[in-house]
Amino acid sequence: MRDVTLLQVFEHRIAQKYLKRSGIAHAIAVAYHAFNLAKEHGEDVDIATKAGLLHDIGHFTWYRNGKWDYDLYRQNDIHPIKGAERAHKLLIRLGENPVRARTISLAILFHTDSFLPSNDIIRTPMQQLIKWADEKDEEKGGMHHYRKLDAERARQSIQRLDQMIDEVQPLSQQS
Ligand SMILES: [Fe+2]
Repeated sequence: MRDVTLLQVFEHRIAQKYLKRSGIAHAIAVAYHAFNLAKEHGEDVDIATKAGLLHDIGHFTWYRNGKWDYDLYRQNDIHPIKGAERAHKLLIRLGENPVRARTISLAILFHTDSFLPSNDIIRTPMQQLIKWADEKDEEKGGMHHYRKLDAERARQSIQRLDQMIDEVQPLSQQS
C-alpha cells in the first residue's frame, strides 16, 4: 500500500499554506498532466503526481507596493530549491518512503531551468516529465498562478487523482 495518499499531502497545513501562494488550480492541473505523462511513459504515477502537485511550493511572494514584482522575482527567486526542501520535509513528516521522497524532491528541484547557470542539464525521465507537466499549464505573464478553484472542487480533484493512481498502480505493486 502507498504510505501516503495525495489527499494526505494536499490537506497538510504546510501544503495548504504554500499551495495557496502559487495557486491551487495550477498545482492540480500540473498534477493531472504529470499523472498522464507518467502513465504514457511508464513512469511511477504516484511519484509524478505528488511532484506535480508540490512543484511550486517554494515560491516566495515578491511584492512591491502591494503588487507582484517580476523583476524582484527574476533577480531573487530560488523556488525550486525551497520547494524541493519543503516538499521533502512535508513528505517525511507524513511518513513517505524516504527513497520516494527523495525522487519527488529532486523532480521539484529540476522542474525549471530558471535558476540554473545553463539550460543543458541532463534530467532523469521523471524530472523531465515534471518540467513538461508544468510547461503544459503555463500561461502568459504568470497568469496560471492566479486561476481560481473552490476548495471543495479542489479536494474532489485530488480524491479523483488518488483513485486514478490506485487504478494504474495496484496497491500490491507500490512500495
Ligand atoms: Fe509551475
